[in-house]
Amino acid sequence: MKKIGVFTSGGDAPGMNACLRAAVRTGLHHGLEVVGILRGYEGMIDGDFRVMDRQSVSNIIHLGGTILRSARSERFRTKEGRIQAYQQLKKEGIEGLVAIGGDGTFSGAHIFYEEHGIPIVGCPGTIDNDLLGTDFTIGYDTAINTAMTAIDNIKDTANSHDRLFFIEVMGRDAGFIALRTGIACGAEAVLIPESKTNIDHLVSLLQENFDNRKSSNIIIVAEGDDAGGAFDIADQVRRRNRQFDIRVSILGHIQRGGRPTCMERVRASRMGMEAVKALLAGKSDIMIGQVHTDIIYTPFAHATKHHQEINPTLTQIVEILS
Ligand code: F6P
Repeated sequence: MKKIGVFTSGGDAPGMNACLRAAVRTGLHHGLEVVGILRGYEGMIDGDFRVMDRQSVSNIIHLGGTILRSARSERFRTKEGRIQAYQQLKKEGIEGLVAIGGDGTFSGAHIFYEEHGIPIVGCPGTIDNDLLGTDFTIGYDTAINTAMTAIDNIKDTANSHDRLFFIEVMGRDAGFIALRTGIACGAEAVLIPESKTNIDHLVSLLQENFDNRKSSNIIIVAEGDDAGGAFDIADQVRRRNRQFDIRVSILGHIQRGGRPTCMERVRASRMGMEAVKALLAGKSDIMIGQVHTDIIYTPFAHATKHHQEINPTLTQIVEILS
């Protein structure tokens, strides 16, 4: 293998740049030519390539977002789009790929590998932490710290006004951001897609708190919760009990940006390096993950199909400590 391509795809995540830097510099260290593919699979289809030298990734380790930009490609979902992408890679002489992204990116990578046989190794880059085969995805640690700071701020004003706040955090299909920030901020309840939300139960908990003169309450809602988003749930609670002074706050994309934390940069650097080493060792169709302190390989099909499970102890912490 003489030339590899690197790209970021799907929702951006803090730490993607650190991962990219590591992949580029590890590739160069091993005598490879490295090409950056802009806008993920979109740029691959369009042949939007950029030669990456050491300087191209200078001073990016601390930056959020991705200097290669990102996209969710509809064209790559089609067979024709993937053929076009393959032809562009062939024309450029790219023989292997490092994909930094989440489940959509890896589902695409898996099909692409099956159809065209080009070796691809993935680094888990998503704030959602929802991929099987790694304790933490790139972006998650920064996102939970950003959310935690925002929730702390809301808590100040909630306390001052004796209010009940519903705060929505990201997580279309997963409650990892909600659960960890809920614990870190001492939330009264955390509502996540992995467990059924019972509004009546929530209202009695809030009533109990109210009767015990608990002046403010924070409820964290993962955006993909089965009972709806924070606004829907707040409405359902309001309809059952009018005595609460309710406010809603949606944290939104603020969670996706910002400077990556120290742990994020270290993990991302390690994963980017390991991805290139895996490619050189002849691996493909796998995601790099870190479990405890070990690097492990998980087939794309497995990493994307099976959700990481919620640790029941974390749910218990919320219930007992709130
Ligand atoms: O990156 C994952 C994620 O943050 C989800 O939690 C969220 O639902 C989604 O991306 C939103 O992404 P976008 O606004 O880019 O479509």
